[in-house]
Amino acid sequence: MTDSIDLVSDTDAETGKSGTRDPTPTPRVSGRPRVTGGTPNDANKVIIDFKDVDVYYGDFHAVDSVTVPVREKEITAFIGPSGCGKSTVLRSINRMNDLIESARVEGTITYHGVDLYAPGVDPVEVRRHIGMVFQKPNPFPKSIYENIAFGPKIAGFKGNMDDLVEESLLRAALWNEVKDRLTETALALSGGQQQRLCIARAIATSPDVLLMDEPASALDPIATLRIEDLMYELKQDYTIIIVTHNMQQAARVSDRTAFFSVDVNEGRRTGRLVEFTETAKIFTSPQQRETEDYITGRFG
Ligand SMILES: Nc1ncnc2c1ncn2[C@@H]1O[C@H](COP(=O)(O)OP(=O)(O)OP(=O)(O)O)[C@@H](O)[C@H]1O
Ligand SMILES: [Mg+2]
Repeated sequence: MTDSIDLVSDTDAETGKSGTRDPTPTPRVSGRPRVTGGTPNDANKVIIDFKDVDVYYGDFHAVDSVTVPVREKEITAFIGPSGCGKSTVLRSINRMNDLIESARVEGTITYHGVDLYAPGVDPVEVRRHIGMVFQKPNPFPKSIYENIAFGPKIAGFKGNMDDLVEESLLRAALWNEVKDRLTETALALSGGQQQRLCIARAIATSPDVLLMDEPASALDPIATLRIEDLMYELKQDYTIIIVTHNMQQAARVSDRTAFFSVDVNEGRRTGRLVEFTETAKIFTSPQQRETEDYITGRFG
């Protein structure tokens, strides 16, 4: 989709968003999840490449040496126990960690070969290419229409806004439910509708990567399945990275899975990547004992 990437911008605007902290405990599951999704293809280009990435909060070493190649038009899942650094690693991709004063990223993360932390790279530009959907639906307290139009307007979109709003809502599988109430407040939508609105909002600025941090954990099972169906649709056009505590979900939707764990050393907990491979392999024949224990519910 995006051949030449220009992440440098002369705008100074900030998103004002902050990353979420999630205290949700890891649910226990028994037995292996059934793998249903997944069409990984090694011919897909690596779009985001983590090489030896460490993340610190002040002198706290939160995540150690993560190396993960994320491939285009695939869904990559990050799983692992609470506190192992999934959200931290996810936020490091679109520079959301910049909004946390103490956060520091070492190693390299490239996007289409461009170092996301190189001098001159504008985090606001990065976030236009790499959109984010949070755990808790967070629509703006504005109309449904304005929620979608806001980002493109700020980005200087010159096309037909009505068309863009319709197209974004269609792609997020929400149009039919809201087309007659576009001027009503987004806060009146159900949780599942609000989350699809947030996905539509993220899509409206034409990113090519979507980061989703537990996008369905606040939703009921039916709304959750709708989001999963939607992700499956979206991966035709987008690269998706999803953090999830729901292993069934990772097994259902993702092509590849990164399993993170956490080492406790003198009371300090440092997350690390244990295993990264095709989802079907992680859930049927993991190479590491720790992965096996986690996915079969013997840990957590
Ligand atoms: N803003 C912050 N300042 C300081 N430490 C932080 C901050 N955010 C996260 N941490 C710490 O970094 C570590 C990793 O946290 P993170 O939120 O990335 O874990 P997680 O795997 O997403 O957990 P969960 O599954 O509970 O969402 C934790 O020890 C956490 O306390
Ligand atoms: Mg998290």
